[in-house]
Amino acid sequence: MKVLAILSQKGGAGKTTLALNLAVQAEMDGKATAIIDLDPQASATSWGDSRDGEAPTVVSAQASRLSHVLDAAGNAGAHFTIIDSAPHSESTALAAARAADLVLIPCRPAILDLRAIKDTIDIVRLAKVAGAVVLNAVPPRGQSIALEAEQAIASYDMSVVPIHIGQRAAFVHSLTAGQTVQDYEPSGKAANEIRTLYKWLWNQASMA
Ligand SMILES: Nc1ncnc2c1ncn2[C@@H]1O[C@H](COP(=O)(O)OP(=O)(O)O)[C@@H](O)[C@H]1O
Ligand SMILES: [Mg+2]
Repeated sequence: MKVLAILSQKGGAGKTTLALNLAVQAEMDGKATAIIDLDPQASATSWGDSRDGEAPTVVSAQASRLSHVLDAAGNAGAHFTIIDSAPHSESTALAAARAADLVLIPCRPAILDLRAIKDTIDIVRLAKVAGAVVLNAVPPRGQSIALEAEQAIASYDMSVVPIHIGQRAAFVHSLTAGQTVQDYEPSGKAANEIRTLYKWLWNQASMA
């Protein structure tokens, strides 16, 4: 079983949005997938509740129980587990990073977000795990902002995913309806971005 942790110490970066969309994409790719929701706000879990038992499985857990819950997911036949995490908790983020094969750090291309990801990058280093930043909610005509953001991230000596996730209404509306962009608008740009990001993740050495 491969484990992807989605971390950012800043709220609103897109952790839950990417966790849910990547999990549904993985199910479509034939991988039995579990989501472990470490955020006490439990937004991934309530999305899962609204799906009436449809995959993926979402489990709410505390960081202290993470290794136990991961074992349970593996024993239940999960091929892929995505950890959605809470902002502002370093110990939770570190536990998630240590359990992961790869850490994905969503970041909006804005100066305050870019400053804040330094803390998350430090946690990834401490855990000695492979990590990459993905720019999320890139505004239309925001390519020059995104380019500047990429340069700022490179100066922290961290990889940047070569795919941008756009700021798109489909990401907001789909989750409200207990769906993801693949159910909501399968041939839309948002679904295409998630497909491309998903493929990129599985091409990383630590996921092989
Ligand atoms: N790519 C995107 N385009 C548009 N809205 C987005 C995008 N990513 C996230 N959002 C919105 O931003 C808010 C925060 O996203 P969320 O995934 O809950 O962040 P986090 O889990 O990091 O706190 C939500 O309202 C979500 O719908
Ligand atoms: Mg969240």
